Amino acid sequence: MPLIAPSLLAANFLRLEEESRMLNESEADWFHLDVMDGRFVPNISFGLPVISAIRKATSKVCDVHLMIEEPEKYAEEFKRAGADILSVHFEACRHLHRNIQQIKSLGMKAGVAINPHTPVESLYDILDQIDLVCMMSVNPGFGGQKFIPKTIDRIRTLRGAINQAGLDVLIEIDGGVTLENAGAIVAAGADVLVAGNTVFASPDPKATIRLLKEIGNK
Ligand code: DX5
Ligand code: ZN
Repeated sequence: MPLIAPSLLAANFLRLEEESRMLNESEADWFHLDVMDGRFVPNISFGLPVISAIRKATSKVCDVHLMIEEPEKYAEEFKRAGADILSVHFEACRHLHRNIQQIKSLGMKAGVAINPHTPVESLYDILDQIDLVCMMSVNPGFGGQKFIPKTIDRIRTLRGAINQAGLDVLIEIDGGVTLENAGAIVAAGADVLVAGNTVFASPDPKATIRLLKEIGNK
């Protein structure tokens, strides 16, 4: 079964405590937390104080997706705020290997996020250093966008490379995941489904989370 990581970018920010409680009671595996700086992506979301607050509201894994430049400046603070997994963008890191070492030395799992235009082959030489690839299936910066179909081929290619190398790297798919496309995404080789609007805009988010897990299992 895939791991389900609801993105709190789509939550009601006036009710983060209730939204967290709902996720705690649900079959969600991780909390996906999207940090945007208005430089790497054309949008600003939330940052350290919000993550610290959410950390107090859950014991589930906090999966922090940094869409920021110079992530090395903040890695330590995100650890302190409660991140369990910290993903940095391939396109934002001039010294990616160093960024990954920094994240691991701080005691977090290290993820690398890649934009839809970045060849998955760009990651091959660091796959053995990381725990997770956050493959963007939309252009990062906004929730509620449409899934880019080419992602399916990209998942297959990356899954093949990970398996061939005998590595234990999770593939997380982020952006436009729905009840309609979740089955194909998991069949192609994804392990983790991020879902923002599909979960939070649904009339029954807990039931939707369960359905995402089940659909992915078929
Ligand atoms: C987009 C973020 C996503 C976003 C997903 O830049 O990285 O995590 O919240 O939202 P949906 O599932 O609504 O596309
Ligand atoms: Zn994200």
